[in-house]
Amino acid sequence: MTNLSQNSDIADDEYLSAFYRCAYGHLATVVGTGHQPSRTVEIGSGRGLARLSGHSWWHSDVLPSEALTLRNSAERLPFHDQSLDALILKDTWHHIPDIEAFLDEAHRVLRVGGTIAVFDPYWGILARFVYRFLHQERWDTRTPQWSFPSTDPWDSNQALTYMMLRRDREDFHRRWGDRFVLTEYQRHIGPSFLLSGGVSRRTAVSGAWLKRLLSWEERRGPWFDHFRFFHVFGLVKQ
Ligand SMILES: C[S@@+](CC[C@H](N)C(=O)[O-])C[C@H]1O[C@@H](n2cnc3c(N)ncnc32)[C@H](O)[C@@H]1O
Repeated sequence: MTNLSQNSDIADDEYLSAFYRCAYGHLATVVGTGHQPSRTVEIGSGRGLARLSGHSWWHSDVLPSEALTLRNSAERLPFHDQSLDALILKDTWHHIPDIEAFLDEAHRVLRVGGTIAVFDPYWGILARFVYRFLHQERWDTRTPQWSFPSTDPWDSNQALTYMMLRRDREDFHRRWGDRFVLTEYQRHIGPSFLLSGGVSRRTAVSGAWLKRLLSWEERRGPWFDHFRFFHVFGLVKQ
């Protein structure tokens, strides 16, 4: 089990803990109530921060961590056919080098009606600029391929969901539409994320103030989507 004191830097940070609760809360909503925690697995769970929000699903990652229930790559899932209710990916989808190998595996291990719930970078005007020019990870929309070469699990292309769900949406539907239906599309979290410095860097801006800003952002309507940094969606197995 996780020693939650390992996560105290996040747990003690007023903004980041609210950010994580917000993200995992939306993922739990996408998965819905018809799933059992023992048949739900987070892929790329890192330090297991979902536990800070009270979620007790399984934790898996390709890199070792004391928080893990299992160690495996997303492209090879160690589960029986149709044995799971849900797979959760928070900020992990864009790190998976062969996303279609993951989708093949997800389709195999999920029961019919089971869900892949994803929280990943969004492509609004502000987010696109920040991810492209100010973020340490890659944002590459020019590559024709969804897969990318990887020598390290931290390699990524943050534009991966943009390419699959927006740029190549007809191709995505043609290749995957008979196996997964896209549901519950939502956009979340605005400039508070930028002002916070992100998950790995802290700024001098007050966490309490950023938390209030996050709460305000979450109550805005669709007009605010231009300023949002993340989206959440579900893919339901047919
Ligand atoms: C940005 S971190 C997100 C960690 C955690 N979900 C969170 O939000 O705190 C991405 C995670 O994906 C994992 N990862 C990268 N490639 C993976 C793969 N092919 N299979 C499984 N996990 C992978 C990394 O090891 C890392 O823990």
